[in-house]
Amino acid sequence: MQRVMRMSEWIDPALVKAFEAEQTNAYRVCTSEEGWVERYGTDVLVSYKDEGTRERLTTELYLWSLAVNFKFTRVFARFLPKQNAQRESPRLVVGDAGANLQTIATERGLQYGIDFAAGYSVGLFIDQRQNRSFVREIRPKTLLNCFAYTCAFSVAGADAGAHTVSVDLSKKSLDRGRENFALNSHSTASHRFVAEDVMEFLPRLARKGEKFDVIILDPPTFSRTHRGKAFQVERDFETLLLKALEVAERKSRILLSTNCTSLNERALEVMARFCLKATRRAGSVHPEPPLLDFPPGAGAPTLWLTLR
Ligand SMILES: C[S@@+](CC[C@H](N)C(=O)[O-])C[C@H]1O[C@@H](n2cnc3c(N)ncnc32)[C@H](O)[C@@H]1O
Repeated sequence: MQRVMRMSEWIDPALVKAFEAEQTNAYRVCTSEEGWVERYGTDVLVSYKDEGTRERLTTELYLWSLAVNFKFTRVFARFLPKQNAQRESPRLVVGDAGANLQTIATERGLQYGIDFAAGYSVGLFIDQRQNRSFVREIRPKTLLNCFAYTCAFSVAGADAGAHTVSVDLSKKSLDRGRENFALNSHSTASHRFVAEDVMEFLPRLARKGEKFDVIILDPPTFSRTHRGKAFQVERDFETLLLKALEVAERKSRILLSTNCTSLNERALEVMARFCLKATRRAGSVHPEPPLLDFPPGAGAPTLWLTLR
């Protein structure tokens, strides 16, 4: 049956209560064709494709917040451009312009720093919530977080007792990752933060014989290293997975995820099966458990690969 999306879908009060009960205050509150609204603590981010949508979503936000008794302190708005190069930081549209632009969001009891001034992305990808919970559930001993950004997956792994290695080109993002560890009172002593190109770092780990129980592969659609080397997800994801398999422990799990619109779950599965065959390894795949605050297909396509 085809799902018909209404003008905009706001989550209902029962789900707001359920999030509150599990100590989560970072979630999608509304999704429409032309934009969406997310909550981070007591702040709200409206993402929109045109000014009319921004105005409509902001008006609807007032009505919805009254209905669910949510008192927001600020509203930020972020334009969704067609080209990634045109992405900009959110701007404050409601609230105290003198206050600092950071806040803290809570997800299933863990805390993550949010920064509305740090760029287009604010610090936490909420559509990875179930995947972070899955990491906590399976309690890995070791976790390799590739393209770690603010190390949210590493925090989830550390909280479950894992030794983590977080790899990202951006030192600033890794510093925010360390801050996220501190926010959750986790010492960084048995955790590594590596500011390098994942594609170069993985072979180095393999040569040293290092292996991991969980490997997170959530690369951007496109990036360029400081030395000018390009990463293009459609072209390079397969090579990335082959490199990751070299450091994957027996019975380990590998998360494959992407925001690239031309790669869906089926494409990730075909790639995963091809790479298993190429490396003569056996395994199975399963999708991310459903996100109750996202209409089907609205989050990043995601697949877990479990090795035998
Ligand atoms: C989509 S974000 C990853 C989000 C992260 N998995 C999470 O759930 O929070 C992409 C990150 O990849 C990093 N990055 C891009 N190309 C890279 C590369 N070749 N090696 C290491 N990190 C890279 C960027 O700096 C950025 O922080």
